[in-house]
Amino acid sequence: MSIHLLQTFAMPETTEKALAERFVVHKLHTAKDRDRLIAEVGGSIRAIAGIGVPRDLMSRLPALEIIANFGVGYDAIDIPLAAERQIMVTNTPDVLSDAVAELAIGLMISFARRLPQADRFVRDGRWADSSLPVYRELSGGTVGIVGLGRIGREIASRAQAMKMRVVYHGRREQPRQPYLYYADLGAMARDVDWLVAITSGGKDTAGLVSRDVLEALGPDGVFVNVARGSVVDEEAMIELLTNGKLGGAALDVFANEPIVPEALRNLDNVVLSPHQGSATREARDAMGALVLANLDAHFAGKPLLTRVA
Ligand code: DGY
Repeated sequence: MSIHLLQTFAMPETTEKALAERFVVHKLHTAKDRDRLIAEVGGSIRAIAGIGVPRDLMSRLPALEIIANFGVGYDAIDIPLAAERQIMVTNTPDVLSDAVAELAIGLMISFARRLPQADRFVRDGRWADSSLPVYRELSGGTVGIVGLGRIGREIASRAQAMKMRVVYHGRREQPRQPYLYYADLGAMARDVDWLVAITSGGKDTAGLVSRDVLEALGPDGVFVNVARGSVVDEEAMIELLTNGKLGGAALDVFANEPIVPEALRNLDNVVLSPHQGSATREARDAMGALVLANLDAHFAGKPLLTRVA
């Protein structure tokens, strides 16, 4: 019997090919009329592969058994409703940690050396008659990591390789980690040059990097976000960046993606990136393989590899 699967996000070619070999795939993310597609096939969908399953979508899929999330963060899935309906949810941890950690360090270097601005400077032909200001090094600076999970630890070891001092904040201290722990995020923000958010999204962390935290980071501090737009008070961040009370920001995630506030786009003390933490060939291929492995396990009645709910 053929199994109908709803795909909600673009995946590597090899993954999509393998999905098409196993399932009758309905592509929601490229559908011209999404509402119509769900009206037509919603009743037969038993699996989802992709990202983000809000309550209204899940409610229209009465036969849904499994959501194989193409990503580690699953804050865009209505987990309470999935649990209530005994729908399995899996994610793709570990395989993208290097990719996200590399982007975090990349954003820091991009900000520190104003690489996007430097690129524009050369392209615009301004090099012949002017020069760029000198900026700062990562070496010798202190980075405070908000969320020392799998990815946070990868960022920490790379920051150490950049000769930085690493400290962290999280729900609890991790005594086996060599870094100084701060129970109070505001106190950590006051003591660091860089504050890197890599905590999970969702309501537990919404607004965690508050106006007070950003003010504590101060005019010489830089906020880096590779977590979720929801973890920071975006409005306060823009205001503080505009009036110089926050030194800078390097951001891969935003509150209302893909819409980025114009005020943020107009600022020169920010580096912006379109939520691409896991967007490397290596990570995306491994994520796709994990999505497939979880779907295969489910439909073979075997234990799931990376179940979150
Ligand atoms: C994820 O997988 O949740 C991250 O957003 C990668 O960027």
